[in-house]
Amino acid sequence: MAMNGDLIALVNKLQDTFNTIGGDAVDLPQIVVVGSQSSGKSSVLETIVGRDFLPRGSGIVTRRPLILQLIHTPARGDGSAMTGGYQLQQQDLPTPSPPQTEYAEFLHLNRRFTDFDEIRREIEAETFRVAGQNKGVSKLPINLKIYGPGVLNLTLVDLPGLTKVPVGDQPTDIERQIKNLILDYISKPNAVILAVSPANQDIANSDSLKLARSVDPRGLRTIGVLTKLDLMDAGTNALDILTGRTYPLKLGFIGVVNRSQQDINAGLPMEEALRKEEDFFRNHPAYRNLAHRCGTKYLAKSLNHVLMNHIRDKLPDMKARLNTLMGQTQQELNSFGDATFLGEQHRTCAELFHLGLHQQGSLVLKLMTEFARDFVA
Ligand code: GDP
Ligand code: NA
Ligand code: MG
Repeated sequence: MAMNGDLIALVNKLQDTFNTIGGDAVDLPQIVVVGSQSSGKSSVLETIVGRDFLPRGSGIVTRRPLILQLIHTPARGDGSAMTGGYQLQQQDLPTPSPPQTEYAEFLHLNRRFTDFDEIRREIEAETFRVAGQNKGVSKLPINLKIYGPGVLNLTLVDLPGLTKVPVGDQPTDIERQIKNLILDYISKPNAVILAVSPANQDIANSDSLKLARSVDPRGLRTIGVLTKLDLMDAGTNALDILTGRTYPLKLGFIGVVNRSQQDINAGLPMEEALRKEEDFFRNHPAYRNLAHRCGTKYLAKSLNHVLMNHIRDKLPDMKARLNTLMGQTQQELNSFGDATFLGEQHRTCAELFHLGLHQQGSLVLKLMTEFARDFVA
């Protein structure tokens, strides 16, 4: 669906424009991962991206928010999609080949990363630098952009897990602090909440669902993600939750099986883990008939769909705000007086700056208008 890609590319352009203008950026939809500690948040995020790059493990590993922007870039060469084995690919694309043109950039560093182990080490180093050596948590986010032909445009936020008992350098009110940090992200009305609950714990006690409900009481922008389905007691299953009989969410629950700690230690490659996950659902007596609506691949597809609808709903508001900004820029431009008869060399830097902004704004507005027309038609 090329249209969807256009929509999201447009919003990325919009964001860049607002960034340049220095105005408040548009409150773009973000997918925020919420759950108790070790429920599998980072694992879910990683499989959505289709890459090993996040610190994961038992205990508190994620100690700063990670704002992860995935940016789709065209494939090199013949122009056919290079999929790299990602979850975000269309299911009917050819067999994955190793990605060549993928890279990542941190906001805090002026260099490109192509080695994903190195990205993980940088996230760890940055976490230690700001949040300390001893289990402390910081509100200050790490910003990471991943560019590649095999990813769809999505912004995802990984957050520290909900916890009750302070450890290490954590203050006595750590529970409240982490709760507030999570609320900062999920209370934005256009955040999409990925509420992660481990299937081997009672869903009635799920911290993520409780918190999600506090900001989204009707369950309109919350996707339930049930992890660790492989760790449920023998003879039990989560069918009632996955089919929405236990806990109603408009966007539903999706079951996934991430890599176990043993898999991680053994270096089980992502593609193999995904195959294992597919096999799990296809061969499980309880989930067999539901397999097409389970797993990471389906989660990624659903996410993109939700994000797209979300952006479409926000389009008129973004357009209005851009119009206002453009008006302001035009006014500032006018205040320099009409100097167009002067040569370029006589224009002031400020004037050229505003002129550039105005041109950029016009371009984005034009794209938006065209897009809106296509979309409605
Ligand atoms: P987070 O603290 O919520 O970010 O959780 P992590 O992604 O760091 O995962 C915590 C631990 O649970 C790691 O050892 C993972 O390997 C393990 N884990 C996560 N999801 C699953 C799953 O679906 N099945 C199994 N067996 N283990 C999982
Ligand atoms: Na963890
Ligand atoms: Mg984590």
